[in-house]
Amino acid sequence: MISDKIILKRASTVDEPLVQSLFERSPSYFKKVDGSDVLHHFAKKEMQDKPKSCLPTYEKVFLLAFLKDKLFGVVDLHKDHPIIGTAYIGLLLVDDEFQEKGIGRSLYFATEKYAINNLNITRFLLGVSELNEVTGFWEKVGFSNNGKSYI
Ligand SMILES: CC(C)(COP(=O)(O)OP(=O)(O)OC[C@H]1O[C@@H](n2cnc3c(N)ncnc32)[C@H](O)[C@@H]1OP(=O)(O)O)[C@@H](O)C(=O)NCCC(=O)NCCS
Repeated sequence: MISDKIILKRASTVDEPLVQSLFERSPSYFKKVDGSDVLHHFAKKEMQDKPKSCLPTYEKVFLLAFLKDKLFGVVDLHKDHPIIGTAYIGLLLVDDEFQEKGIGRSLYFATEKYAINNLNITRFLLGVSELNEVTGFWEKVGFSNNGKSYI
């Protein structure tokens, strides 16, 4: 299974150039949602953005996803947001060249496993931009009404 071969690592600020280069070779998401090319600060912004108000246990968890040492995706998780035990998914992005091969699904399931095992998460939540037609993807990985629960 591909999801067993995916290595997830928590990013730190030194990884910004790596994430920026992934974004620059995957411009389609940003074209749709931001209506622009990938600007120089997009990785920094995605890696630092946090909700305006959050619980004391909140953590921003930005994950880098590798297959055979190649960064092919990222996941922006907000632990304990908006409530304890819930992870809000800010972004799950797969390199444009890796899309439509089942890799997004595998990345989601690897993320789910990571969050359940490492972050005490039992419920996943997300918001889908009206500009981005991805509801079908989230339904395929088990979401309904933009949420998925293991309670
Ligand atoms: C959304 C995204 C992660 C999907 O990744 P992917 O690797 O192309 O998806 P997969 O190949 O694993 O697809 C899994 C299933 O979802 C379906 N699917 C994928 N993208 C879809 C979309 N945009 N709309 C409807 N269904 C979709 C696939 O057809 C597949 O269905 P199947 O099991 O019947 O074959 C990828 O397109 C991406 O990174 N997009 C840019 C970032 C983004 O929009 N992220 C989501 C919002 S945070």
